Amino acid sequence: MTDKNQKPEANSLWGGRFEGGVSDIMEKINASIDFDKILYRQDITGSIEHCKMLVATDIISADDGDAIVKGLKQIEDEIEAGEFEFSAALEDIHMNVESRLTEIIGAAAGRLHTARSRNDQVATDFKLWVRDACDQADDALKALQMALVEKAEENAHVIMPGFTHLQSAQPVTFGHHLLAYFEMFTRDRSRFQDARKRLNECPLGAAALAGTSFPIDRHQTAKALGFDRPTSNSMDTVSDRDFALEFMSAAAISAVHISRLAEEMVTWSCAQFNFIQMSDSFTTGSSIMPQKRNPDAAELCRGKSGRIIGSLNSLLVTMKGLALTFSKDMQEDKEATFDAVETYSLIIAAMTGMVEDMKVNENEMRKATNVGFITATDLADWVVRVLGLPFRTAHHITGSLVAMAEKKGCDLDGLTLEEMKQVEPAITDDVFNVLSVEKSVASRESFGGTAPSQVLKQVSLAKERIG
Ligand code: ARG
Repeated sequence: MTDKNQKPEANSLWGGRFEGGVSDIMEKINASIDFDKILYRQDITGSIEHCKMLVATDIISADDGDAIVKGLKQIEDEIEAGEFEFSAALEDIHMNVESRLTEIIGAAAGRLHTARSRNDQVATDFKLWVRDACDQADDALKALQMALVEKAEENAHVIMPGFTHLQSAQPVTFGHHLLAYFEMFTRDRSRFQDARKRLNECPLGAAALAGTSFPIDRHQTAKALGFDRPTSNSMDTVSDRDFALEFMSAAAISAVHISRLAEEMVTWSCAQFNFIQMSDSFTTGSSIMPQKRNPDAAELCRGKSGRIIGSLNSLLVTMKGLALTFSKDMQEDKEATFDAVETYSLIIAAMTGMVEDMKVNENEMRKATNVGFITATDLADWVVRVLGLPFRTAHHITGSLVAMAEKKGCDLDGLTLEEMKQVEPAITDDVFNVLSVEKSVASRESFGGTAPSQVLKQVSLAKERIG
């Protein structure tokens, strides 16, 4: 098919067997430069190390090597100064850099691609980039953990209702609730660290898919680029995008944690709960309702987590039908990953700020424990401990007392001893000691429990664990 928009010239880097150029549509569908130019630093660093290795193994001359390295550094400066002209006709960052290198140093530039293909090159660039993203995620999570631990310490004694099914269940401390998120973010950090370990094998030298006949030293390039070792199978190397999938899985799980905390903040800050107040920095007003303070940042953390989950899904679906080895479908890995990284770093920064700024309404939290028979479990436990009855019987007795209080329109400690005795004659005055939420909370001193003393213990352990 001839296309009137077909370019007259074949591509200068791969067009040897082509008579004419590609169509405009082909250029548009094929080019990745608009988004993969973000990889320029990794691309240039990888090329410099590849070049040094080619010199060290006598595959290219030292003079050519010097010219290549110098030219590549100049290109990096040009890009950083905003002076580099990226071209869609040159498809991607790899060919944009190589083509410019030819302009700068002439034909010797063509030696750089010896024993290399864009397939192992892109895998290397992208791995280096995702590796940095893992480190940034770890730093960001650490900052969020510190904010949580600090708030948990301040609020170790603050009593609030703990919920199951969003129904008042048992009184807990707010510090304990915050430390629950500390644990989630600890696991998230270990997922990123783990992904980083697994990705840290160098693809360079796998070439197009089969390895190379040149006597390259893959250990040299791996070491120079901070990888633990070269990859072991050239076909796997150019087919593998697990590292991006793992990063996005870790980001998606972590985004779900951020989203759950965001959802709680939305609930806690509404007038009906009024447990917390969010700062001006992370809320907006309404143009029509002057009383409003909308928790937009929290809502957007919740909303944007969906986008990260979507990016993970898009790459999973892209990869699932691909035969070995490289297929151009894989170029779709980047926008999804780049967007996931940007979105994740934004929501984690917003969440850290919201946690730091959040004001806690201690009295409102405490007041909310006055409804919902929240110490019913303490009452049942008392019946077991003091009257020696089986827990199931105690549960039944307590249920009857709750029904009685409900009918009377009071909480459990609003029943008189006489009324309680109608349900279980053995009950004594001592029962009133466990019906207060303060006592309930203070009694839960089991390891990892909600008692303020235990929360403070976990706070100090958390500080050590943050690292
Ligand atoms: N731009 C491509 C990508 O992002 C680079 C690899 C191209 N390889 C090839 N044989 N066409 O994946």
